[in-house]
Amino acid sequence: MEEQQSHTTVSVKHWQELLNTEIIRGLAGRDFLSLRDFTPGQIEALIDLALALKQARSRGEPHPILGGRSLAMIFRKPSTRTRVAFEVGMTELGGHALYLSANEIQLHRGESLPDTARVLSRMVHGIVIRTFRQEEVEEMARYASVPVINGLTDLFHPTQVLADLVTLREKWGSLRGHRLAYVGDGNNMTHSLMFGAALMGMEMVVATPAEHGPDPAVLAEARQLAARYGGRVEWVQDPREAVKGAEAVYTDTWVSMGQEGAGEEVEAKRARLRPYQVNTALLDLAAPGALVMHCLPAHRGEEATDDVLDGPTSVIFDQAENRLHAHKAILAACLR
Ligand code: CP
Ligand code: NVA
Repeated sequence: MEEQQSHTTVSVKHWQELLNTEIIRGLAGRDFLSLRDFTPGQIEALIDLALALKQARSRGEPHPILGGRSLAMIFRKPSTRTRVAFEVGMTELGGHALYLSANEIQLHRGESLPDTARVLSRMVHGIVIRTFRQEEVEEMARYASVPVINGLTDLFHPTQVLADLVTLREKWGSLRGHRLAYVGDGNNMTHSLMFGAALMGMEMVVATPAEHGPDPAVLAEARQLAARYGGRVEWVQDPREAVKGAEAVYTDTWVSMGQEGAGEEVEAKRARLRPYQVNTALLDLAAPGALVMHCLPAHRGEEATDDVLDGPTSVIFDQAENRLHAHKAILAACLR
């Protein structure tokens, strides 16, 4: 039988001690809309808390930090990991989560987002929303009086990247100065990874076709953050240039949720992205032992091949598992 849970080897403080630190206490009541809203210290503290909660769970130690609290989760797009991580996370923290498919609540019949935010705020202690436009998440946060968490938009996927930083810290012991390559479509994952890498002082090179690059405003902001915190973020078009010397190679689907569009356009995009497939030939250019990363779901044989996704340096299922621990850290810190 396969091992069911990854183990953290990094030495971490106890979660109770971390919860009482000023930096974690300062996150109470905060929204989690984009990584750029946080300082490097706050992100580090959330990574520490995630690892501490992971250790507590593996010891079978209860940690009912959110007893009696509820989380509403509105999804306008499908989800496996995000939904399960938040729902199981709330249960393990002693609280309760409600899955609200956007098609089955009054939002679908035209009830406004501000009204939905105000109604939910009277009954629950936090809201997760997965939707299309980032502005919608921000509008929700403006009208809600409880913390709002971005469960993915077309622009950002911050909770995924927090879990990815947890994974990298587990594998490397530190983040600063480490080199990450992202190869494929410039999308929500690219954007949040650029912010995460910049804040952590990492070196990140993104390679995409010219037509599918990251949002220029997000790239510029990530570069500013990198300059401030001693990291580096670059965008190139040659996948080999990005991967050369990288200690981790990240990819994501070529066609994101909601962008399926007209068949011909999608086929043309796939053709442009074909040279960006993460396969052994590309991975061989990375540093020896380079980690293979993917937020999943993977489109095996498109953005990455099976041998790479299932290879000895793949950490894709550790990333998936760490969603649970990272989301519990966000919930424990922000919903207290
Ligand atoms: N990576 C991720 O967010 O997965 P889901 O779409 O399954 O939530
Ligand atoms: N870029 C992908 C991420 C899925 C978790 C999408 O938005 O569909």
